[in-house]
Amino acid sequence: MRQGEKWVLGLIGAVALFAFAKGLWQSGTKKEADPGIPFYSTASPELARAGSDLYRKLECKSCHTLWTVRNMFESVPAPALDGIGSLRGEQWFYDYFSSADPQTILPSRLKPQYRMPSYAHLNEQERRTLAAYMASLKVQDWYLQETRKAEYEKLTGKSYRQ
Ligand code: HEC
Repeated sequence: MRQGEKWVLGLIGAVALFAFAKGLWQSGTKKEADPGIPFYSTASPELARAGSDLYRKLECKSCHTLWTVRNMFESVPAPALDGIGSLRGEQWFYDYFSSADPQTILPSRLKPQYRMPSYAHLNEQERRTLAAYMASLKVQDWYLQETRKAEYEKLTGKSYRQ
């Protein structure tokens, strides 16, 4: 082999190796992205901002998980709110937040200090915003059953049978 040929072969080898490594790397990142995060929100940017501002201000995360965020120092077994808008409707949320005694709508199995508080003291606009924001929190169909199961188990403390 002449010097020039060796050089060309080496170059081809290097290009092939690079392409292979790139393929491997991409298949690795693709695997993570593929099943995807099943949760999404249908909220407009305005609703998303107003809703998450209230959510933060009222410290809902001291008991609930949303977008995988929760307070690490509390371990209240409240249902996660991801996908909750695929399980219940906006009017239900509004009535729930407006009730002076939310446990008449959704019974609790927890000690009083961990139960869902009443948000009847908020003004109507705030309760509507929270309800619309909750209703916008959707889950993809392929994860709906899992979400329902997790919610059921948190609410009842029992294991879920279809
Ligand atoms: C003190 C803990 C606590 C706080 C704070 C709290 N929640 Fe809850 N929430 C619960 C618990 C526990 C439940 C389940 C019902 C029960 O046990 O009372 C619940 C239930 C719910 C449900 C119904 C879930 C379902 O499975 O249908 C929604 C929606 C909800 N909360 C939203 C909120 C929002 C929004 C906030 C903030 C404004 C908030 N919660 C603040 C503890 C809390």
